Amino acid sequence: MALDLTKYVSSIQDYPEKGIIFRDISPLMADGEAYKQATAQIVQFARDKGVQMIVGPEARGFIVGCPVAYELGVGFAPARKKGKLPRETVKATYTLEYGTAELYMHKDAVKPGQHVLVTDDLLATGGTIGATIDLVEQLGGIVVGCAFIIELDELKGHEKIKDYDVLTLMHY
Ligand code: PRP
Ligand code: ADE
Repeated sequence: MALDLTKYVSSIQDYPEKGIIFRDISPLMADGEAYKQATAQIVQFARDKGVQMIVGPEARGFIVGCPVAYELGVGFAPARKKGKLPRETVKATYTLEYGTAELYMHKDAVKPGQHVLVTDDLLATGGTIGATIDLVEQLGGIVVGCAFIIELDELKGHEKIKDYDVLTLMHY
């Protein structure tokens, strides 16, 4: 039976700053059935698109993307924060709901023409996913979809990725 995944998201007021409601997916990950159900929905979306590679931003994008890649039998490439990747990289800068940052990928992480699904736990302002898409495209990859567990509608991140096919499991 399908679970109500909203029951596995915890909402914390004023974290990490006053005025932010933090939507925490750790209860969902901690429950085997809920994690499996969320993963299965994204796997289905990716399968329909012939995805050849998954890319997710550090850190929570890994939690969503890695089980999807494993299930599909395709690779996973991380988009990482500054100073974490040992070889030659490409870089993208972005703005967060609370701060600014840079993301990097290894130059050979995605092959030109490869069909890529970009995953993250949550879409807020869209800065992180926009930077991740930018990195994939700098490498010549084709972003065939984006998948999130949660979207914060008020922050309008969706507008930044309106040209892409998006799957979101829950909206707040
Ligand atoms: C969070 C979240 C998304 C991003 C969403 O990551 O996991 O990646 O913010 O916000 P945006 O749409 O406004 O960019 P965070 O940067 O807090 O890093 P973490 O995954 O390492 O906790
Ligand atoms: N990343 C950016 N905004 C967030 C929020 N409100 N909850 C959890 N993760 C976030």
